[in-house]
Amino acid sequence: MKFLGLNDFQFKDQKVLLRLDLNAPVEEGKVTNDERLIRSLPTISHILEEEGKLIIISHLGRPEENDLYQPKFSLSPIVKRLEELLGKSIPLIEGLDNVPSIESGELLVLENIRFLKGEKSNEPELSKKLANLADIFVMDAFATSHRAHSSTAGIIEFSKNACAGLLLREEVNALSKLMLKESTSSLAVLGGAKISTKLNLINSLSEKMGAVILGGGLANTCLAAQGYFVGNSLIEESMLGQALELSKKNNVIIPEKVIVANSSNEEGIVTHVDKVKKGQSIFDVAPDSFVELRGLFENATTILWNGPMGLFEEPQFSSGTKKVAEMIASSKAFSVCGGGDTISAAADAGVLDRLDYVSTAGGAFLEFVEGRKLPALEALQLKALK
Ligand code: 3PG
Repeated sequence: MKFLGLNDFQFKDQKVLLRLDLNAPVEEGKVTNDERLIRSLPTISHILEEEGKLIIISHLGRPEENDLYQPKFSLSPIVKRLEELLGKSIPLIEGLDNVPSIESGELLVLENIRFLKGEKSNEPELSKKLANLADIFVMDAFATSHRAHSSTAGIIEFSKNACAGLLLREEVNALSKLMLKESTSSLAVLGGAKISTKLNLINSLSEKMGAVILGGGLANTCLAAQGYFVGNSLIEESMLGQALELSKKNNVIIPEKVIVANSSNEEGIVTHVDKVKKGQSIFDVAPDSFVELRGLFENATTILWNGPMGLFEEPQFSSGTKKVAEMIASSKAFSVCGGGDTISAAADAGVLDRLDYVSTAGGAFLEFVEGRKLPALEALQLKALK
């Protein structure tokens, strides 16, 4: 993918509008995971060190788009954490009409861009207004690049200059590397609750990769579709037909040893998928299932991981996810994981720093590896051609 980058511009004394994804979890006014902020720092520092006049925009959560300030969704806790990370105070400005002028090498942050009418509907009026705030627009919110919003895609067409930031480029490079190395020795490990949200992804990856191992609710639904009795396990009834088609693919692997219990408060029992009893639920994949598949992990050249294998938040049902995390981290493959739950699971398993690349994105990560076109990336490419 060809975009213009930071090195194509001189930022000195230029007004720069930087779109970041600072959509981080906040509890009681405090950021509880600052990974997205930390990964945004290189682009911020580059622009400030070159003495640009920096305006940062981001969304936080999903507020109502009504031009009104909604305290619950204020970027204030994010800005506080950013101040700590950068060691300087940062004004937080509401609305677009009174954006103060900025000294070279200084920055400010605009309030949650999703307060503004027209953001999510990608209204050209808002895109133009945003574009007019700056001489150069820098898009570094890879995690929001699958949204065709005013501040991610719409703005690019109206900006005098637009380029990709360092994180966006890093994400695209790492994920492209993963997809370019498609071969019979590439492996995907997919878990999570709902097969409906990942059906296209599983189909697309099973066409491109050597094997796709399923866990969690995705696997339970396939087991039920194949006629196994799954008790009270989490499944999606409406997806049984499509799950059956998926299960018929030779390279879609559904582990056969699982961990069951009568409730999530009880200890789990390892059993075979054809021995699940009435009242029981499958809460995890048994680690042995992955040991039996170790050849796939040892021979893999690339591994993509998204989604936990079971109810990993409960310690007695985390062993399947921990085992798969360990096997991915120990393999010689180029390993990539993405998605909030997956990152938490990798952190719990203590393997986060042993994976080759950890994407900051959730939905955008999945759409990218599925091979879909992401609107903000498309717009950046188009701009680079002009
Ligand atoms: C994310 O967390 O995946 C991104 O910030 C996008 O958020 P959204 O799903 O609310 O658009």
